[in-house]
Amino acid sequence: MLVAPSVLSADFGNLARDVRAICDAGCDLVHVDVMDGHFVPNLTIGPVVVSAIAKAATKPLDIHLMVQNNTFFVDLFAPLKPEYISFHIEEEKNPHRLIQHIRSLGIKPAIVLNPHTPAEAIEYLLGDLDMVLVMSVNPGFGGQKFIPTVVEKIKRLKALRDRINPECMIEIDGGVGSSNIAVLKEAGVDICVAGSYVFGADDYKTAIDSLRV
Ligand code: DX5
Ligand code: ZN
Repeated sequence: MLVAPSVLSADFGNLARDVRAICDAGCDLVHVDVMDGHFVPNLTIGPVVVSAIAKAATKPLDIHLMVQNNTFFVDLFAPLKPEYISFHIEEEKNPHRLIQHIRSLGIKPAIVLNPHTPAEAIEYLLGDLDMVLVMSVNPGFGGQKFIPTVVEKIKRLKALRDRINPECMIEIDGGVGSSNIAVLKEAGVDICVAGSYVFGADDYKTAIDSLRV
């Protein structure tokens, strides 16, 4: 299991310190939540702050867009050379075109599914994706309760993934911690995002290691 702590739960007064700390603690990716106050009822950070995160990070960035106008935001963050940019399928009329655009920028394209969106919604896009991110809370805030019905969805997604594009990673985001990580692994998750679980822990390394099932 790869681990991507969500910076949303970091101490923003000490952002560079916290980003360095999770990288030193051995995380695999740094998960960055970009919210625009339109697609979700919260507003987070733009390119100025994300570039400060990129500068502090010694691990690749995993940028999760929760925005309207995806292409505008992809172009805004592309110069920071993240490993992944993920966008919500619910907010994109031309997902196939946007996948190609992200790839043309040298970035791995990923799609996010909200809790109500079926795995089958991206069946015909899977062959072109490097990752699918499954939301296990409603997007917008850290520290929410895990929605258990997503476990069934991950199993269905894994079956599609294994048939169509075995290289494509499955990532989970929301309410993840040591209590549910084994079930998620069993269902087919490759990468877990964890915000409040990691940043709420006394020791980041112990918290990250407890997710490596
Ligand atoms: C929610 C964000 C998540 C969030 C996860 O919209 O996408 O990345 O920070 O936080 P936890 O792990 O606390 O649920
Ligand atoms: Zn996220």
